[in-house]
Amino acid sequence: MSPTEVVTPPPPAAPERKPDPCIVIIFGASGDLTKRKLLPALYHLVQGNLLPSEIAVVGVARRDLTKTFAPDMQDGVIAGGGVEKDDPRLAPFIEKVQYHTMNFDDPNGYDSLKTLLASIDEKFGTKGNRLFYLAVAPEYFSDIIGFLGKHGMAKPEGGAKWVRTIIEKPFGHDLLSARALNDEVNKVFDEDQIFRIDHYLGKETVQNILVFRFANSIFEHVWNRNYVDHIEITAAEAIGIEGRGPFYEQAGLLRDVIQNHVMEVLSFIAMEPPVSFEAAAVRAEKVKVWRAITPIAPEHAVRGQYGPSTIDGKAVLGYRQEERVSPTSQTETYAALKLEIENWRWAGVPFYIRAGKRMAKRLTEVTIMFKQPPLRLFKNKEGKSDHIEPNFISMRIQPDDGITLRFGAKVPGPSMDIAAVDMDFSYADAFGPSSNNGYERLLLDAMLGDATLFAHRDGVEATWTIMTPILENWAKTPVSDFPNYPAGTWGPTASDAMMKADGRKWRKL
Ligand code: BG6
Repeated sequence: MSPTEVVTPPPPAAPERKPDPCIVIIFGASGDLTKRKLLPALYHLVQGNLLPSEIAVVGVARRDLTKTFAPDMQDGVIAGGGVEKDDPRLAPFIEKVQYHTMNFDDPNGYDSLKTLLASIDEKFGTKGNRLFYLAVAPEYFSDIIGFLGKHGMAKPEGGAKWVRTIIEKPFGHDLLSARALNDEVNKVFDEDQIFRIDHYLGKETVQNILVFRFANSIFEHVWNRNYVDHIEITAAEAIGIEGRGPFYEQAGLLRDVIQNHVMEVLSFIAMEPPVSFEAAAVRAEKVKVWRAITPIAPEHAVRGQYGPSTIDGKAVLGYRQEERVSPTSQTETYAALKLEIENWRWAGVPFYIRAGKRMAKRLTEVTIMFKQPPLRLFKNKEGKSDHIEPNFISMRIQPDDGITLRFGAKVPGPSMDIAAVDMDFSYADAFGPSSNNGYERLLLDAMLGDATLFAHRDGVEATWTIMTPILENWAKTPVSDFPNYPAGTWGPTASDAMMKADGRKWRKL
């Protein structure tokens, strides 16, 4: 028997979740995301028979890729996994992938794009429905949205049912810029047309946090300040900045990963049960969590930057040596925060979060660390009981997705010795491997008009409200000890010291 067994077989995919015919228009299609994630995800939906056949894709970018775009996307789909080269559905799908060269600030480009889309409607029966995907650098968001509005492309026309837009992160740079961007977008699109994407919400394991909490009755009773000692969230990456020097110099880790991905995970862990799984109900509960987070003291916001090192015998550059990064850069590639959520459920339970580039390994996980039992009956030979580990639930978001419950068990023998043991659930063991990359669900939901797994205006502003004071404080207090952790390690010592000050340690991962 495998350690993880599926007892109830999963239901067949619900056929009623098929969206209307539409064109997916990807601005910034020459970037990595389109080839590596978006097209493979769309094709996985085709394979799953989740899309109607009247779906077309138009890539839009400045570089003229008219001849190479479709074949390049075909390569991307194959490399994306789960697809054979001679898959009979692949050629008909790639036939409906087109490319449009334009500058995002050129009004004529929007005219010709509009004409192209109308001709695709004629040819492929896409019925005028449009999903505009903004996979561009944030400085182009306003231009594109403004021009879509001016050119009459932001509202359904001529019998079409809907026009929607997906906006990639980062959504703003701080609270003020996020508000300004929200205002601009809302001038052109109604809130129910806007899908602010955070690809973490597309991850099965992130969605499973809600299932774990709200589809089971045995965990919810202990999911509060009476039983939980503290919660840790780690989002560690082994990779560095992957050639994105200019972006990283402006963003930094807090903006890139914590304001969005980590805060989304935190909200799922901490939220109250929503009244339904409708977008408005779920979002309302998430926003309540973020708004209950108290201002973060400067000593509870640790920043780090990786220095050069050797990993597996290979020399690895420090952040300051990366291409197009200042040799005196103050940008953080690591951050650790201690958060307090002041509400009935969580008052007094610290949430420790850490995320970083070039850490010891790639691992995103949440640990719910429980309190020790009120009375420790079992003593060791020295008469002490502090060797007994507390219980925890660890939710591994990636890789090796799964959930572990740790508890104490009696070691066989004449004395009452206790060892920590794990009960393990593994996604791959239970459900088999998956080639989904997380964008499948989000693209499908956007086409269906379901915004449950997307960020809302209020949510984005709430998370920026938490992060902006930290960023402002960091901007006015330069660091003198960067780089403060060697690439390939678990971050700066200041982060361990923050835990130690509370008598705790990061869980060894
Ligand atoms: C992106 C960040 O949003 O998320 C990247 O811009 C980061 O810097 C990536 O590497 C992490 O995503 P994942 O799915 O690999 O954890």
